[in-house]
Amino acid sequence: MGPVILVLNGPNLNMLGVRQPEVYGSSTYADVVAVCERAAAAASVAVDVRQTNDEAEMLEWIHHAARSKEFAAIVINPAAWTHTSVALADALVIPEIPVIEVHISNVHARESFRHHSYVSPLAAAVIAGCGIAGYGYAVDRAAALIA
Ligand code: DQA
Repeated sequence: MGPVILVLNGPNLNMLGVRQPEVYGSSTYADVVAVCERAAAAASVAVDVRQTNDEAEMLEWIHHAARSKEFAAIVINPAAWTHTSVALADALVIPEIPVIEVHISNVHARESFRHHSYVSPLAAAVIAGCGIAGYGYAVDRAAALIA
């Protein structure tokens, strides 16, 4: 089997389509999964796309990635944890694989508390403001980095 990219989504992203459509658009979480799978197929890689509202579960997934070495890269939309979680940033360096940070909205054009990211300093790339298409760009970039 070829390389697998782990695509992680943080809190409230399961509510896409319902949640503030004026900010996040009308696409759903299922559409996010479809965008990732399409980009992965085009780049001849596989994706494992997950979402959780539980920070501990997110940390466990990242720890598992580090221990198992199952994944070649991580694409992550950390959602609100972007701006709050030192624990998430600490976890993301453990697997020692490329990390790409994605935001659906342009966080820099929003409230000032969204301008700081604990994840960006460790990310190989940051994509914001492209809507859910950003996930496709992130998977494509991750595939290029691990090729
Ligand atoms: C988000 C931006 C974050 O500030 C916010 O907390 C989210 C979603 C985005 O995809 O635009 O939940 O990460």
